[in-house]
Parts: sequence; structure tokens; C-alpha cells
Amino acid sequence: MCGIVGYVGDNEATQFLLDGLAKLEYRGYDSAGIAVGENGTIRVEKSVGRLSALRDKIAGNEPHGHIGIGHTRWATHGRPSDLNAHPHTDCSGDFAVVHNGIIENYLSLKEELIEKGHQFRSETDTEVVAHLLEEVYEGDFEAAVREVLRRIEGSYSLVFMSRRDPDTLICTKQDNPLVIGLGDGENFIASDIPAIINRTRRTYILNDGELAVVKKDSVWITNRSGEPVTKKVFEVKWNAEAAEKGGYEHFMLKEIYEQPKAVRATISPRMAKDGRSVAMDDLGWSKEFLSSIHKIDIVACGTAYHAGLVAKYYIEKLVRIPVECDIASEYRYRDPIVDEHTMIIVFSQSGETSDTLAALKEAKRRGAKSLAITNVVGSSIARESDQVIYTWAGPEIAVASTKAYTTQLILAFMLSLYMAQILETQTEARIAELCSALQRLPGQVGETIEDVEPIKTFAKKYGFNEDVFYIGRSLDYDVSLEGALKLKEVSYIHAEAYAAGELKHGTLALIVEGVPVIAIATQKSVYEKTLSNIKEVKARDAVVIGIAAEGDNELEKYVDHVIKVPVTDELLIPVLAVVPLQLIAYYAAITRGCDVDKPRNLAKSVTVE
Ligand code: G6P
Repeated sequence: MCGIVGYVGDNEATQFLLDGLAKLEYRGYDSAGIAVGENGTIRVEKSVGRLSALRDKIAGNEPHGHIGIGHTRWATHGRPSDLNAHPHTDCSGDFAVVHNGIIENYLSLKEELIEKGHQFRSETDTEVVAHLLEEVYEGDFEAAVREVLRRIEGSYSLVFMSRRDPDTLICTKQDNPLVIGLGDGENFIASDIPAIINRTRRTYILNDGELAVVKKDSVWITNRSGEPVTKKVFEVKWNAEAAEKGGYEHFMLKEIYEQPKAVRATISPRMAKDGRSVAMDDLGWSKEFLSSIHKIDIVACGTAYHAGLVAKYYIEKLVRIPVECDIASEYRYRDPIVDEHTMIIVFSQSGETSDTLAALKEAKRRGAKSLAITNVVGSSIARESDQVIYTWAGPEIAVASTKAYTTQLILAFMLSLYMAQILETQTEARIAELCSALQRLPGQVGETIEDVEPIKTFAKKYGFNEDVFYIGRSLDYDVSLEGALKLKEVSYIHAEAYAAGELKHGTLALIVEGVPVIAIATQKSVYEKTLSNIKEVKARDAVVIGIAAEGDNELEKYVDHVIKVPVTDELLIPVLAVVPLQLIAYYAAITRGCDVDKPRNLAKSVTVE
């Protein structure tokens, strides 16, 4: 995890470093620090807590200089503290380094360096990098960095500065992201584009093993062997405001409200002109190719995993290819049965989740074909996968994922339709019917967020309960998993989702008078069964909030409150049913006074195991 930045140029480094870090706090926010070249020394300032704590610490006494590096941390090795915060320096204070990732062999390196007399101040893995640089430095900064890279193992993006080369930053990456922003008389380095788009839209996206020597008016990039690399400038097309809150109190709420637009942007470019079929021909799949795929493995983490569960349902239902859906951290270690007849589909909003990336690499190593569904163009997962399709959700900043989930469901559905078209597993008429439902969906998502007053009322009434249960069957169960995760993440209420039919095998023991149960009942084939389960919890005096489709006049007879979502094909209802669940989580968190966009202990992009 963690966010890193670097600056070299004619302007004040501190200004950019603090502004850039503010845009990267979604990557971690338990401590922050900067190192700035000031009067021939490297001045380091760091503080435990949010970036605001660092700002307060240096207010009125900011470092002045034209070169610097910065870091916002999400602790892995060593608890959050001033000492463990980055940047880290060597014994002499000649070198400073910021790091995102994990140095796996840091313990043996640390022992070796301590024996040579180096004195360590922190518990981090990163500090070894600074001391190792000091140890191997023989007058050539770049050569010393290369030697360090030969000695360290693990994942990293790193930015180095040296007091002896006061006009040069060196950066490199392995498995963690890094971009260089190209300015006029200044250049920028950052973990992610939002940190630099206020300054420049012209970027280089570094690949694994590349090393860049960055000065104010030059960027020299070489590969692992030191050979020059010619890079294309990647022009960022995002609107700077898109990464800002745009008038909403929180990014999470803004992103919930952006869903109609995000869903439309994801559907439209892939719809055939006549609106009767899906056009994903960029994938270039043929009947022969798809017939050679005997099994699909869907792998992801968190919310993306929940989207994967829905994708499994879609593919099996519409295409009839067997699908396994797995959590990436489990999949990568369970010796999965994968060969050249397997396709791995990874879902990842950020495209940087370390376990998902590792699972993708493992499946590829075993011969699988691969496809990534991600929101971030040029992300590590996008680049590692054979093929990629993008959710056009725009930047998602809130830690709790909302619009990425709904757009992932859209792509899962469209991909299934595309495969069904090729393999002819559905009739043209059925595909046209589903395409027409898809095109009505953005407007219907809009309808689900028109009247949030009832949801605010539930949130106020039940927001202080300690436990909330979510039940559903089939696709409703998949959606309840996501609803429960949202509530946990942002309100810290203990929330559990259960397959409604599984209740009586244990969980029913937890249902007592007044416990809120959110029951999702939108799937016709299992509707009566879910209704029976609702009666079971009502008989134990639970308070039941039902989620149903418009036109369902039955559910309200058995529950305490009902929230209705527009009618669509029941395959697509998850895209609508999840929205009230997102809003319930949001308003419950507000009721409890939680920091919605930055929940405790969590981070947006988990680039460590
Ligand atoms: C973190 C985020 C979640 C996200 C998960 C997977 O835990 O807080 O919101 O679902 O990572 O992230 P990805 O970027 O791979 O979708």
C-alpha cells in the first residue's frame, strides 16, 4: 500500500509534495512525511496520523527547496509512528527514500548492515534500502541504486534522493505502480495520476524493472540492464474535477450518485448500433477459441470478488461454461487446476491489488488465457493480462467501492452476452430482449437514488444496532454479501450475509427481538422460498427491511418496511438492488459519525499481501 510522490523543478517542492499526497491518501493514511533538499541538506519532516497532522507540524516552518520526495503510509512492517513513517534515511543523512511495497529479504539485509555498523531507527523493511544505498555508494548515484536493486527482493515502487546529487531523483518499480508527470522546467513522480493532474497531463507510465533518472528538464529511462527505453507519452484525458468531490459531502455519496452515468458510459460503447446485441469485437474471440475454453476461473478481492460471484451466475446461466469464483489470496495458494483450456478473469477496480495480480500471474504460468476487468487504464493488472476490458466508472476515490461494483456487473453481463452470441447458447430474440433491458438500466439506476428519505430514516432508527443480517437466495444472496460488506466497511456495524436457506443451520440462533434483517427478494425462481425464510426471522421478532421489485405487493405483508427498485429482467436486478444497500451503509455511517471515505484500518488499493 502507501502513496509516494517526488518533485524536481523550479517551484517549491513542499507545495507539490503535500498537494500530491492529499490525492493519494486513499492508498493509506496512517502517517505521512516529506524530505526536501534545503540548503545543501536533506530536511525530513514526518508525522503519525493523517496528512493534516504533518501540515500542522510544519505550518510556518515549511521546508524550502526545489527537490523532494513524499509518502503517505499504510503500515505493514512496524506500527504507525513518527519513526516508522517515510521517508527513511541512511546513517549520514545523505540519502532519503520512499517506498510502496514490501522488501521480503529485509531481515537478512538488516542483520548484515547492522554488522557493518549501520544504525537503524525504525522497524520498517524500507529503512534497509537507505542504508544499503549508503553502503554501496561509490560516487555514482545511479550505479548505487542499481546495486541496491540487485540486492533487494520483493515488490516496490521507490523514489530515491541524494544530498550529493541535489538535482536528481531516481525512481523504479516492481509490481507496484509509478507514473512520471512531465512539466515545463519541472517533473513529477507519483504512485497514481490524481496526484499530478493538476500540474500536467503528460505522463510516462513505468513498467516493472524500468529505472528513471529524473531532473527538472529531463527524464532518462532505462531497463534492468541499463539499456535506454523509448517511452510513449501517455496523455491523461480525465477531467481534474472528476477526481474531486464536486459538491458532495463525501466521495462515497458522490460515487453512488455517479452510477447512472458510469453505467451508461460502460454500456454505450459496447452496444451494437441496432441495440440488439453486444459489440465487444475488440476481444476478437471466435467460436473455436471459446469452444477451447472448458472452464473459467474468476478471481478477485473484496467488492470485486462479489461482482465475480454475480459474473459466475451470468456466465453459467447464459453461456453454460463452468465457472469457479475464488478469492485471490486463496486461489494463488491452493494449487488450482488450470491448463490451456482455462480462462482466468480477474476483476479489480484499481488494477493494482497484489493478491489479484499474483493470482493472475500464477494462472498464466499454468497456461491459462487471461482477461482483466478493471477501472484503471494502464494499471499493473491491465498490463499483465492477455486482454482487458475497462469499466468506464471514472476515478473511484472512496475506500468503499460503489460505482466500480455496478459497472463490473455490467461488464460481466455484457461479456456473458457476447460469449452467448458467439457460442449461440441464447437465441437472438433473448439477446435482443436483454440488450433492451440493459439500455433502460442507467435511467433505472437513477430512479433508485431519487428518494433517499426512507433510507435516511432507517439509518437513524437502526444505525446504533450492533448486528445487522442480510439474507437472500441466488443472485439476491450475492448482492446481500456486498450490502453487508458496505455496512461493515463504513459504519463498523457487525453485518453478516447469509444464504437465506442456510439460516436454519446456525445463524437463526442469533436472530432475537429487534435485530434488523435486510431481506432481498427479487428473484422469481426462489421468491417463495425466501418468503418462508423471512417468516422464520419474523417469528423470532426480527425487524425486517425487504428489498423487492416494483409491482411486488406480497412482500410488504410480511416485513416491517419495503424498499422497491424498478422492474427489469431479474438477471439485471442486482445492479439496482445494491444501490439502496450502498445508501443504507452510507447513512448508517453518517448516523454513527464515522469517517465515511476513510474507514479505519482500510485502504483503497491493497498492494501488499
Ligand atoms: C480494498 C478496497 C475494496 C476493494 C478491494 C479490491 O479492500 O477497500 O473496496 O473491493 O480492495 O480492490 P480492487 O482494486 O482489486 O477492486
